[in-house]
Amino acid sequence: MPKSQIIILEKIDSTNRYALANFAELADSSMVLAKEQTEGQGRRGRKWISPPGNIYASFVVKTALPPAHNTYIGAVSAIETLRQYAPGIPFWIKWPNDVFTKSLKVAGILSERHCPESYNKADGTVVGIGINLNTAGDFFETNRLKASSVHVETGKETDITAFALSLHSALIRNYGIAVKSPDLLFMAWKKENILIGKKVDIIPESGFQVTGIFKDIGKDGALILTLPDGNTRKLYSGDVSVKFK
Ligand code: BTN
Repeated sequence: MPKSQIIILEKIDSTNRYALANFAELADSSMVLAKEQTEGQGRRGRKWISPPGNIYASFVVKTALPPAHNTYIGAVSAIETLRQYAPGIPFWIKWPNDVFTKSLKVAGILSERHCPESYNKADGTVVGIGINLNTAGDFFETNRLKASSVHVETGKETDITAFALSLHSALIRNYGIAVKSPDLLFMAWKKENILIGKKVDIIPESGFQVTGIFKDIGKDGALILTLPDGNTRKLYSGDVSVKFK
């Protein structure tokens, strides 16, 4: 088995696109890192604006894991590394996988499965991680983004290379946990979901917004919502987004 690598690119359209296109050549647990992305992709077809100064990384997973678990690897690793570089700042996960500080987003995860052309079954996943490190607050205001960065929260510049190395170590560690003790990783991810027990609005792709209590998260990563009439509903990450009060 070839050794995992960190591939550093000056500028690329999207590290996820690069990692998917070069999947066969990349060793398991490798990480593609770009200083800048010109077509960064977010969840639900959104753009991920990617100026220099932040983390744009794609981690290669070549083990068939339950789909949600790939995303847990990314989210738990992002939050652990953020805590290491910004101690004392409160980070939490907004279901399914946005990392927030207070009411603003600082990081997002986009996992994409790789299917070889000759074969319609996935042979692995690319876990894309975007983390706002050194972007200044006026950039978010100018671009009308409800987001924050480590720089805004701490007033300090973060060394991108050092942060990326720590993130890669965390990804490898959590990938190991996902393979050997998936329940442990699930619990680590679930405990960061501090909206459990709170009142939330659920916004579907189409149709009406519903309000309910975020009761729990199922083993498959689904959000379990209690409706005002007492019934429960299971919601999956591709279908809805959550607004908290
Ligand atoms: C989201 O919250 O919408 C997910 C954002 C994921 C962004 C990262 S940046 C590195 C990787 N490459 C991409 O094009 N997207 C992901």
